[in-house]
Amino acid sequence: MQPILEVRGLTKTFPAVKALDGVDLSVLPGEVHGIVGENGAGKSTLMKILSGIYPPSSGELFFEGAPTAIRNPAAAIRMGIAMIHQELNLVDELSVADNLFLGQERTKAGRIDRGRTRLEADDLLAQVKAGFPSEARVGDLSIAGKQLVEIAKALSYKAKVIIMDEPTAVLSEAESSALFSLMSRLKQDGVAILFISHHLREVREHCDRITVLRDGRLVATFHADAATEGAIARMMVGRELADLFPPKSVPSAGTVLKVTGLRLVRSAPPFDLEIRAGEIVGLAGLVGSGRTEVAEAIVGLRPKVGGEIEVGGQAVSIRRPIDAMRCGLAYVSEDRKERGLVLGMDTVQNVTLANLRRYAHPVVRKKEESAAVAAWVEKLDIRAGDLHSPTLYLSGGNQQKVAVAKWLDTRPKVLLLDEPTRGIDIGAKREMYELIQNLAADGMACLVISSEMPELLGLCHRILVMRSGQIVGTATTEEEIMRLAAGLEPLLVD
Ligand SMILES: Nc1ncnc2c1ncn2[C@@H]1O[C@H](COP(=O)(O)OP(=O)(O)OP(=O)(O)O)[C@@H](O)[C@H]1O
Ligand SMILES: [Mg+2]
Repeated sequence: MQPILEVRGLTKTFPAVKALDGVDLSVLPGEVHGIVGENGAGKSTLMKILSGIYPPSSGELFFEGAPTAIRNPAAAIRMGIAMIHQELNLVDELSVADNLFLGQERTKAGRIDRGRTRLEADDLLAQVKAGFPSEARVGDLSIAGKQLVEIAKALSYKAKVIIMDEPTAVLSEAESSALFSLMSRLKQDGVAILFISHHLREVREHCDRITVLRDGRLVATFHADAATEGAIARMMVGRELADLFPPKSVPSAGTVLKVTGLRLVRSAPPFDLEIRAGEIVGLAGLVGSGRTEVAEAIVGLRPKVGGEIEVGGQAVSIRRPIDAMRCGLAYVSEDRKERGLVLGMDTVQNVTLANLRRYAHPVVRKKEESAAVAAWVEKLDIRAGDLHSPTLYLSGGNQQKVAVAKWLDTRPKVLLLDEPTRGIDIGAKREMYELIQNLAADGMACLVISSEMPELLGLCHRILVMRSGQIVGTATTEEEIMRLAAGLEPLLVD
């Protein structure tokens, strides 16, 4: 079969790094092609070249067998290559229909043809099985809904290749499986899909072929069933990986964080939580169960109407984030955009941002600051190349690590982590678990919010499950988590 899209010897050099080095890739019509690799391996860069965002430094491109150049995103779209960005490119204030036809408005006699816009929009939404109308405001949709609008938009361009950069990183399990069934329908229509993900299980299950990149180079392309998850992970990191979860440390007796009767609104049930020194408590629940809201309320990012917080046995009053930081609480947000990095600032500035005062005597001592940051870079294996170039240029996973380093640099007593391994590759995940386990061994109290059940089970001493803003129980198995999270009766065992 002739590839729809092919690259040979593709190289991309940025001032500080060679992001891609002689990569070959072929994409067949109607195939789902998985792209995997560690953070910074070059996955997003490759996709950005294919969608016309970056020009390659060298290498050849072929579309339907003919040599070609993809000069800009508009040219890519005209050829039939569409990219679903992680940071979705939609206008929140506009309706779904208006977003779908932005730049390709359906007109009649020089005016927007409302009827036709609506009809075609409804048809596209039906194709992706969206459960919302074309007149809905995009800002009111969930992330999963916005992704569907992006995919519908790709269909409106009659895309033959759709590129998805970590689409499932922000989806719940149910939303992800809806996306996979949509992908298999698109496949039947002959659409080729390039699918980036750090979840090796879903990559193996839903892709036909898989390409592994490491340090900008092609490691191999193979049929999905030709390699186990373990084998793929080894190809990604180029070495044997130790067990994913390091042994758990033993928590001590003293309570570090005590939250009693926390309420976000008057009508809500009270929220209680206790974490001991060295204890890692997991907070499970479906997307929307209120896990993030509670964490945000604890650290003063969100108003609360009542409740007491004690840190190390002392009652504290937390109204603003600065209060939380002063009494030793640190919260690493789940949100990629709002994760508290200033993307225009460099890695050094970002890591010491929350804690600059420590380095100011009264003028910031640059050497001391750089040494502290270098230590974090080493400890978290942040692959930043030049620590003085903007974090904007770091790969997604490495940005996440910088955000964690920033909060650890405040030397907290309590660390609240919201989806800490989202967008992080398997090797870095292992390192993140080890780091959390080591922090706990040193007496830190940790709260880990995660939608990945194996992660909670492998990492935490105790798992609390939330539903509708409330803790509904403690779980020790995946099944218990799911039943509690969804509000189902426990299975009767006879
Ligand atoms: N615009 C840019 N300027 C400079 N360097 C860049 C730029 N974009 C990417 N890089 C660098 O190129 C390398 C590859 O980054 P890329 O974003 O492609 O990685 P990735 O495989 O998508 O990683 P992740 O899994 O973390 O998203 C990294 O070292 C990154 O810092
Ligand atoms: Mg990326």
